[in-house]
Amino acid sequence: MSLLDARNISHAFDYPLFENINFSLSPKESMAILGVSGSGKSTLLHICSTLLTPNQGEVILCDHNIYQDNDDARLTLRRYDVGIIFQSHYLFKGFFANENVELASLLSDKTMDDALLKRLGIADFMHYRVGDLSGGQQQRVSIARVLAKRPKIIFADEPTGNLDDKTAQEVMNVLFEYIEHENAALLLVTHNQQLAKQCTYVRHLHLDGLKEEA
Ligand SMILES: Nc1ncnc2c1ncn2[C@@H]1O[C@H](COP(=O)(O)OP(=O)(O)OP(=O)(O)O)[C@@H](O)[C@H]1O
Ligand SMILES: [Mg+2]
Repeated sequence: MSLLDARNISHAFDYPLFENINFSLSPKESMAILGVSGSGKSTLLHICSTLLTPNQGEVILCDHNIYQDNDDARLTLRRYDVGIIFQSHYLFKGFFANENVELASLLSDKTMDDALLKRLGIADFMHYRVGDLSGGQQQRVSIARVLAKRPKIIFADEPTGNLDDKTAQEVMNVLFEYIEHENAALLLVTHNQQLAKQCTYVRHLHLDGLKEEA
């Protein structure tokens, strides 16, 4: 059983980004996607995570053919089963960190795991306003918010981009342990080779598809 099946996906904006993208992810599996800036990594992540209809191809996510489903079905899937960690983290800035995380658990009817906040190194900052946190702290709050809803699959776009090597590794350990314990899957976009090679699969994004080599 796979959680994500990408079939023959192509996409172009002003110029063709990629074609013939095929892969699947099963529970407990992770895939790192590397590629030069502008190659379309974020675009591919958006396509796989319900946010963008591709020019061609199909995405089967948690047994739903997401771009053939109606909008409601796609929204429900996004709300309960899909966790998206964006390249620029979208927190509610005027709110406190804990409000951001609690809101996510509330919206998906899940309870928050306090141990997770400790593991992410942000337990002591949860009573801060988001605007008063450093970039790396905000990034970790956004990761906590995503995990709070206990998604079946996590899409992470450079989730450790603002973090020093040690903190980045700790955050990745949390994500890897999460997919192991929850039988979830992880699609990771990163420029960090060291983190990429800890994934089940490492692929490079090219115009003509995903390749094992750069
Ligand atoms: N909504 C859009 N409309 C038009 N062009 C877009 C849109 N989104 C992205 N692009 C273009 O598609 C190309 C790929 O963008 P994308 O963000 O997917 O790249 P990336 O591989 O994630 O790059 P980076 O490593 O810098 O994050 C870029 O040239 C970008 O300008
Ligand atoms: Mg990007």
